[in-house]
Amino acid sequence: MSIIFLLLLLSSCTFSVLSAGDDGSALLKIKEQLGNPEILNSWVEGVNFCDGSGNVDAHVYITCTDSGRVNSLNFYFFYTPFSPFPEAICDLTELQMLFIERVYIHGPIPSCISKLVNLREFTMRRTFLSSPVPEFLNHKSLTLIDLSSSALYGPIPPSLSAIPNLQILDLSSNGLNGTIPLEFLRHPPALLYLSNNWLSGELPKCSEWGNFSTIDISNNLLSGDASFFFGKQKTVNSINLSNNQFEFDLSYVEIPENLRYLDLSFNKIYGKVPESLVWHPVLSTLYLMSNRLCGEIPQGGNMSQYPSDDFMGNACLCGSPLPPCFDLAPSSAPAPPPPPAWKP
Ligand SMILES: *[C@@H]1O[C@H](CO)[C@@H](O)[C@H](O)[C@H]1NC(C)=O
Ligand SMILES: *[C@@H]1O[C@H](CO)[C@@H](O)[C@H](O)[C@H]1NC(C)=O
Ligand SMILES: *[C@@H]1O[C@H](CO)[C@@H](O)[C@H](O)[C@H]1NC(C)=O
Repeated sequence: MSIIFLLLLLSSCTFSVLSAGDDGSALLKIKEQLGNPEILNSWVEGVNFCDGSGNVDAHVYITCTDSGRVNSLNFYFFYTPFSPFPEAICDLTELQMLFIERVYIHGPIPSCISKLVNLREFTMRRTFLSSPVPEFLNHKSLTLIDLSSSALYGPIPPSLSAIPNLQILDLSSNGLNGTIPLEFLRHPPALLYLSNNWLSGELPKCSEWGNFSTIDISNNLLSGDASFFFGKQKTVNSINLSNNQFEFDLSYVEIPENLRYLDLSFNKIYGKVPESLVWHPVLSTLYLMSNRLCGEIPQGGNMSQYPSDDFMGNACLCGSPLPPCFDLAPSSAPAPPPPPAWKP
């Protein structure tokens, strides 16, 4: 009897730890700082956030550590009055995952985020956050930063490349400008998404660049030679340079062996379509349209999988799947029969 009572007492203790403890009051403060949105109506004094009582299907989700501290906070797509970043989030010091998408939060990311030293995944996407990308996001623990589709501006801080365990960095669809820092090519996260910004200038020449698995820098104003992304030994499996001003000779680049997606469309790339594409083991998407390529498209092997659209809008590409190259009769082909003699 007394054991059961003791167990009840213990369990009610762990429940009350959160509702009365720091994290419970931090969550209530977050609600208030978000302008008391209707969807958080169940968040009141005494609620046990760790047993799911504060969750709302698909929109609000909290998980806790065994000791009753909040370790993940997820907000997805709900209406709030337009509010600044709720700084009480910074008091959830055991937080490992913060996921906020499509919530009307505006203004800068506050520096108090650096108090979250256990944070592994930091996602705030499709918000109205507007500030430079903060330099203080440099915890050892971070593996993912996704601040895509917001209103961030200014340059990419080189310090982001010093985050030792960062695997994924997604800053796409913001208003970032300036150049891509050299450090990013030397020590890149495995997956780097910087598309749809105002990044400009030439990529720094980098002979010893690190191993990306995905790089997407499409829809920017980048220029110069990007051929150093290629090379047989590179481990990359997806490269998207579409819609920039890149200008280099494609004729002799070696396509990395693991590459599956290659989008070079809408640039100023010249030379020929490289022969090495013919027997490439895994490439399945190849967009070369709207460049300055010329000459006969290599034939045979895996080339038949690419439709003619993939090659359109170049300077003078020819051969299947485009119309044949009239001027370049293959030398090994038998000579055509002589035309019948013309008799007057
Ligand atoms: C980046 O944009 C800011 C305005 O947001 C401007 O002041 C700055 O000159 C731009 N920098 C570059 C390199 O374009
Ligand atoms: C990239 O990966 C290859 C193959 O795994 C490895 O040999 C090379 O040292 C790596 N390069 C860097 C800069 O990490
Ligand atoms: C490359 O990026 C462009 C623009 O961001 C996008 O439309 C295209 O689908 C991407 N290509 C691939 C192969 O994913």
